[in-house]
Amino acid sequence: MSETFYVTTPIYYVNDVPHIGHAYTTIAADVLARHKKTQGKQVRFLTGTDEHGQKIDEAARALNKEPIQLADQVVERFKALWKKFNINYDDFIRTTEDRHRATVSRLFELVKERGDIYLGEYEGWYCTGCEEYYTESQFEDKCCPVHKTPLENLKEKSYFFRMSKYTQPLLDHIEAHPEFIQPKIRRNEIVSFVKEGLRDLSISRTSFDWGIKVPADPEHVIYVWFDALTNYISGLGWDGSETGGELYQQYWPAIHLIGKDILRFHAVYWPTFLLSAGLELPKTVFAHGWWTVEGEKMSKSLRNVVEPNALVDAYGLDPVRYFLLREVPFGLDGDFSHTALVGRINADLANDLGNLLRRSVSMVIKYTDAKVPAAGQAQELEQQLVATAAQVAEQSAQFLDQCAFHKALGSIWELVRATNRYIDEAAPWALNKKGETQRLATVMYHILESLRFIGVMVWPFMPETGSAILDQIGVAPDDEQLSRKSISQWGGLKENSLVKKGEPLFPRIDEDQAAELRARFESKTKDQDKTDKQPQDKKEPSPKGPAMISIDDFSKIDLRVGIVRSVERVPKSEKLLVMQIDLGEEQPRQVVAGIGLAYQPEQLVGKQLMVLANLKPVKLMGVESQGMVLAAGPGGADVCVAQFESEQPPGESVH
Ligand code: ME8
Ligand code: MG
Repeated sequence: MSETFYVTTPIYYVNDVPHIGHAYTTIAADVLARHKKTQGKQVRFLTGTDEHGQKIDEAARALNKEPIQLADQVVERFKALWKKFNINYDDFIRTTEDRHRATVSRLFELVKERGDIYLGEYEGWYCTGCEEYYTESQFEDKCCPVHKTPLENLKEKSYFFRMSKYTQPLLDHIEAHPEFIQPKIRRNEIVSFVKEGLRDLSISRTSFDWGIKVPADPEHVIYVWFDALTNYISGLGWDGSETGGELYQQYWPAIHLIGKDILRFHAVYWPTFLLSAGLELPKTVFAHGWWTVEGEKMSKSLRNVVEPNALVDAYGLDPVRYFLLREVPFGLDGDFSHTALVGRINADLANDLGNLLRRSVSMVIKYTDAKVPAAGQAQELEQQLVATAAQVAEQSAQFLDQCAFHKALGSIWELVRATNRYIDEAAPWALNKKGETQRLATVMYHILESLRFIGVMVWPFMPETGSAILDQIGVAPDDEQLSRKSISQWGGLKENSLVKKGEPLFPRIDEDQAAELRARFESKTKDQDKTDKQPQDKKEPSPKGPAMISIDDFSKIDLRVGIVRSVERVPKSEKLLVMQIDLGEEQPRQVVAGIGLAYQPEQLVGKQLMVLANLKPVKLMGVESQGMVLAAGPGGADVCVAQFESEQPPGESVH
C-alpha cells in the first residue's frame, strides 16, 4: 500500500462567519493535500467546526438562538465557502457530532485512567473570546491582551490535567523531533515557554453547560480546547482501543496547519494530552503568520474582515488562491491589499503565465496545424530549458514538502519565465518565415512540454488553471497526467495531440477595471454580511490616524441623543455600569459602559449622552449591552462622557 499523508486545518469557531484568514489555512492545507496526491500518496484532509463552549453559547444567545441553531447555520456557510474555494477535503468534523463526542469522552477517561486528572478548584481571569484563563502577568487593567475586553474573574470546581508532569517529556520530544514545531521561531517560543515549567491545566467548567459532559460527573463540561483538539483523532474514528481503529492506524500522526494564534494549544496542550494517553504525537504543527488588511488588524472578534466570497467574485478563484500563498512566506505575517493582489494578477498571472499559454497555443495553431509536433535534435537552448524544468520540478516539490508555498511558486515561476525567454530567443516566428520546419517543430515541442510541466506543478495551487493548461495543450487533465511522476522525465507530451485555443486564463486588469473590481468587491461584501459594520473600503490612510471614510460610511453610524433613566453597577465589576437609556424608543436601551471609576451611578441619571445606537449587542461580564456611550479620556477614573450644550429630545440623531 502507498504511503499515507494526513493534513488538518483548525476547526473554526461558529460564532461568526468565515473570513480570508480561515480561507488561508484551508487553502494551504488543500494545496498540500493535492500536492501529496500528485506524489502518489494516499491522502486524508480533515477540516471542520468548533461548536461548543461559552463563546458560542453567548454568541447564540445574543442572537436569540440555541447554540446548535447558530452552528447549523454557520457550518453551511463554511461548507459553501470551501466548495467555492475548490477545497477538496475528505472529511468535515463538527464537534457536536456523536462520533466526536464519544471520542472526547473516551480520551478523557483514558487520561483519567492514567491518573492524570484530579478534581480541584480554580480561580482565575477568563476571556471568553479566547476561551482561556490569563495569569496576572499576562494582562493589564483586567482586560484580555487579545480582545481588550474585560476579563471575568471565575472561581469554580474544576478537573485538572496534570500537565506539569509532562514538562520534561515534552521538551525531550521537541528536542528529538526538529520537524515537530515549525517554523523555527515558533519552536523556540514554545521551548522557552515549556522550560518555565508547565502548570496543571483546568479542563472542565461548571459555569455553563454547552459542551460535552465529563464522564460520571455531569455537573462539569469538558474544557472546549480539550474537546476541540480531539477532533484530529475523532475525524479518524479513533475508538480508544489498542489499535485505535482502521483509519487512525492508517493516517495518524497528522500535519496540523494552524495560525500562530493557537500555537500553544497545539504545541503544548494537545501533545501533553496525547503523551498522557500513550498516543503518538502529531508529526508537525506548522503555525503560519497573521494577515492584516490594508495595514489593519483583522479578526472576527474585532469585526474587520475580508469577505472571501466577494473576493472570489471580484477577482476569480485561482488568482485569490495564488495570491494568498505567493504573497507572504508561510510562517510570516502578511498584509492583504487590493493593490498587491492586482499587482500579482497582472505581473505573475496575466503577463507571465497567461501570455505564455496564449501565445504558445496560437503559434501551434498557426505553424503546425494545431498539432503537437515531433521534436528533433535539441540544441543548447533546449538543453538549458530541459535542465531548468528538471530542476524546478525537483525544487518545487521539496519546497512544498516543507510547506514553503511561496518558494515553490517562486520556483515554478522560474520555469514560466525561462520558457518565455526561450520563446523570445528561439523566435519560432523567424523559423516559420525562413521555412525551417524541423527546427520550428523542435522549438514548438519544447514550449509545449514545458507548459505541461508548468500545468502539473501549478495544479495543486490553482486546480482550474492547471487543468486548463493541460487541456489547451492537448493533454487530458486526469490523475495520471497530473501526477508528479508524469513530469519526472522530459518528453511525456505525445506528438500529434491537438491543442485547443481556450479562454484567456487571466485577463489583465487596468486601473479603471481595478477600481471597478474593488467597488464590486465592496458592494458584495455589504450584501454578504449586512451586520458586519466595519467598512472594507479603506481609503488612503491619513498620516496620523485611521483610514479616511466617506459621508456614506458615516451615515451607517446611528448616533443619537440618549437620556439616562437609571444606572446600576454591574455586580463584581469596579468599572462597568449598566444604564437604561431613553433613545425615544418604546423601551429604554440597556447599555453597559466602562465608566464606573469616573462616575457614581446617581451622577449620570438625567444626563443627555451621545449613544451609538446600531452597535451589535454584546455581553460584558454576562450583561447584555445594546449600544455604546461615547466618552473621551485615557480610561479608569479619567473618562468623561460626551454631552450636549442645550437640551435635546431623546432619540434625536447626531450628525
Ligand atoms: O481558534 N490571519 O478557531 P477560529 C491568518 N476553534 N489566519 C487566520 C486569521 C488571520 N487574520 N484569522 C483566522 C479557533 N485565521 C479554534 C481552533 S482547533 C482544534 C480549534 C485562521 O475560528 C488561522 O488558522 O478562531 C487561525 O489559527 C484560525 O483561523 C482560528 O480560527
Ligand atoms: Mg480566533
